[in-house]
Amino acid sequence: MVDHDVLVVGAGLAGMRAAIAAHRVGANVAMMSKVHPVRSHSNAAQGGINAALRGEDDSVDSHIFDTVKGSDYLGDQDAIEYMCIEAPGEIIALEHMGVIFNRDDEGRLGTRAFGGASYARTFFVADITGQAILHVMYEQIIKAGVRSYEEWFVTDLIVEDGQCRGVIAMEMLTGKLRAITAKAVILAAGGVGRAFEPSTNALICTGDGMALAYRAGATLLDMEMVQYHPTTLAGNGVLLSEAARGEGAYLLNSKGERFMEHYAPKMKELASRDVVSRSEQTEIEEGRGVDGCVLLDLRHLGRELILTKLKYIHEAARDYAGVDMVDEPVPIRPGQHYIMGGIKTDVDTRAWDITGSAGWDGPRGLFAAGETACVSVHGGNRLGANSLLETVVFGKRSGEVATAYAQETPDFTVSESHLREAEGRIKALMDRPDSGEMTAALRLRMGEVMNEHLAVFRTEEGMQTALSNIHLLKERYASLPVKHKGSVYNTDLIFHMELGYMLDVSETIAASGLLRKESRGAHFRRDIPERNDTDWLKHTTARLGDGGAEVGTLPVTVTRWEPQARVY
Ligand code: FUM
Repeated sequence: MVDHDVLVVGAGLAGMRAAIAAHRVGANVAMMSKVHPVRSHSNAAQGGINAALRGEDDSVDSHIFDTVKGSDYLGDQDAIEYMCIEAPGEIIALEHMGVIFNRDDEGRLGTRAFGGASYARTFFVADITGQAILHVMYEQIIKAGVRSYEEWFVTDLIVEDGQCRGVIAMEMLTGKLRAITAKAVILAAGGVGRAFEPSTNALICTGDGMALAYRAGATLLDMEMVQYHPTTLAGNGVLLSEAARGEGAYLLNSKGERFMEHYAPKMKELASRDVVSRSEQTEIEEGRGVDGCVLLDLRHLGRELILTKLKYIHEAARDYAGVDMVDEPVPIRPGQHYIMGGIKTDVDTRAWDITGSAGWDGPRGLFAAGETACVSVHGGNRLGANSLLETVVFGKRSGEVATAYAQETPDFTVSESHLREAEGRIKALMDRPDSGEMTAALRLRMGEVMNEHLAVFRTEEGMQTALSNIHLLKERYASLPVKHKGSVYNTDLIFHMELGYMLDVSETIAASGLLRKESRGAHFRRDIPERNDTDWLKHTTARLGDGGAEVGTLPVTVTRWEPQARVY
């Protein structure tokens, strides 16, 4: 007997939206997460969610174009069209579920401006939008009676006869491994921000979903496209929402100049994130920074606006930097925030295998949504507030499509060998002699290497150095011991496995970066500073080969928008 029709791995916004959608179309669906669902990283999303819903001068086409341009023409336009068309309906669905969005003076759903958008189309709940939506979704999950495996860590996908048939997972409370079978598995396990140090991401963002799919034969897409958010606090990488600039904050250099006027005369602070982050870094490197930062100035917005619409970031700047933004500018700099790449899926969220003639040769029954996935709506650069949108639109789609798939899939049993193999592997890990090597030290080194060589500006030499270092770290990882031998909440073991996931994914990031011989979106090479549409209007792919990451390319889907010069 198969345990579930659909199993969703990850319980952030994409995962919960998938589970709700699957339940609504009749699936026996379960969610599995290594943390309690409301501790998922979607909780940290601050500024809002985009949709062309207000009418007036806005339109879905304008949202589509802004997203295509924001992506530096690397996003697949069929997927972007789907997302933007679905967006207004999803905002209304969220409102009906109970999300209390901010209202405007006339009582309508209110919006704020966000980067790279030609219209203020970001719906929001102060600066805690992700948290507000996450809690409402969890209420829906409870109401629906969806089975939720909370604090379970997935170690393997079960793949038999080219078919994904569930997962092997560890119940963290007991340390016991179990095979949980399902006719369809949706990976919605978030990003890999913690492969970089610092990062705005929670400690749990360790690329688990991407690594599980990659190890099972799926293709990762555009992994070099890593987003650095323009406003993170110096020292600790804490996010200060783009909502601050959306509400009118300025970026200043050491001379007190609004330097974005030089780099993006029209959009200034609200140019796309890759442009703003590069501009900040240039100011810092050319000596117009302030102690390795530039300044975010909100003083002219006034106390009342700050304490109502930007309350959370006001507290964050006060608590983590000792700055009261009502009276003083805040030192900020670009910091790792998001990855545009991920598990390649089609618009129906099916994980895709490059060897399949019909694009469906990799593990069948495997789906992905949210930051784990790359349906390719962000291309080279994601617009702020398009990520929450992606989670709900493609979360919902994955729940529906996976359910239809499960309903056509006959029952099966899986071999005991999957569980035994995983148990044997973890026992061998626990029995490793203590070499003195520390998981935390390897993890920190990986993060520093990635942040040094795969940040806002890159070079061939730097990325090569990063790749060599990742290979060295992988060698050290192969004999890294698990020091704590207990079975109850063995976080030493969990951190060990997470590090393995991050090293695999980091290798794909560096290898894909080396492959792309141009500058596009977040991938800016000092040694090749131009975009090259003739040779590189292409996605990069990464698959696991015998010797590690094997990279290649795929065409970009262009429907209506031919590439143009990208100016803001
Ligand atoms: O700046 C922010 O509030 C982040 C939003 C996002 O990454 O979409």
